[in-house]
Amino acid sequence: MEYIKVNKQYATHIALIELNRPKELNALNLQLMGELRDALKELDDDDNVRVIILTGNEKAFAAGADIKQMADKTAIDMLKIDQFSTWDQIRKTKKPLIAAVSGFALGGGCELAMTCDMIIASESAKFGQPEIKIGVMPGAGGTQRLTKAIGKAKAMELVLTGRFISGEEAMGYGLVNKVVPTEMYLYEAVQMAKEIASMSPIAAQLAKEAINRSFETHLDEGLTLERKNFYLAFATEDQKEGMKAFIEKRKPEYKGK
Ligand code: CAA
Repeated sequence: MEYIKVNKQYATHIALIELNRPKELNALNLQLMGELRDALKELDDDDNVRVIILTGNEKAFAAGADIKQMADKTAIDMLKIDQFSTWDQIRKTKKPLIAAVSGFALGGGCELAMTCDMIIASESAKFGQPEIKIGVMPGAGGTQRLTKAIGKAKAMELVLTGRFISGEEAMGYGLVNKVVPTEMYLYEAVQMAKEIASMSPIAAQLAKEAINRSFETHLDEGLTLERKNFYLAFATEDQKEGMKAFIEKRKPEYKGK
């Protein structure tokens, strides 16, 4: 892996993926996105990992898709390269995915953070969809996810002006879960990951799938999936253990079975 670093912490069942193209502010070129897809697939298949954190560095989570790689492409080139098919696979990650964002999360970087399930931001985070300033528009889900996260009026404003918002502002709009001092953002993400990793991993995956479905379908279909996944949780040993531990007033020991 040239552009990402993966660190598995089996003791706490969490894994950290760090985007690592610092000179280019972690601009998301095709190779980086391919590596990210492969790493997420591997971690998704690893029973010792329950929660994944995706981060960049203090200056940049990611400053967008790689403009230099796209600049001279024609529409037909773009269609053939079909860069967003990689994103479809990333979106299918079953385990909870937390974005730990500091610095720039712009264009594809903001879209990548929104593809994650939760966002912990540093005070110095800057979110935005500035594609309009380079003559295009968001292409990796920004018009859909941003609108669902912050509402039509604000999404329209951000996408049509390209202006950046701070972590604090993003928090006010409901885009991020928490804003913390810059030296704390990764620590906070790890704390959240550890808390989730202490739950039944199967219940967490079923719940994630059901919440995501609420964005993709009508209420009826979403409720049907939610109900099915709820009943399915009763096929796990973790459900028996969790409920028994509650009744016995002790901490549950989840095995992911
Ligand atoms: N693609 C390629 N290279 C990028 C990049 C990007 N998205 N963002 C930054 N870089 C490169 C810069 O070209 C520069 O490289 P050189 O040193 O070789 O010139 C290096 O990273 C550092 O960047 P700056 O010197 O520009 O740093 P700055 O602090 O002055 O500005 C910034 C930071 C405001 C983020 C500015 O770099 C910027 O505006 N970047 C582009 C943001 C953008 O438009 N993103 C959307 C891309 S399109 C997209 O993402 C489509 C989609 O929906 C998937």
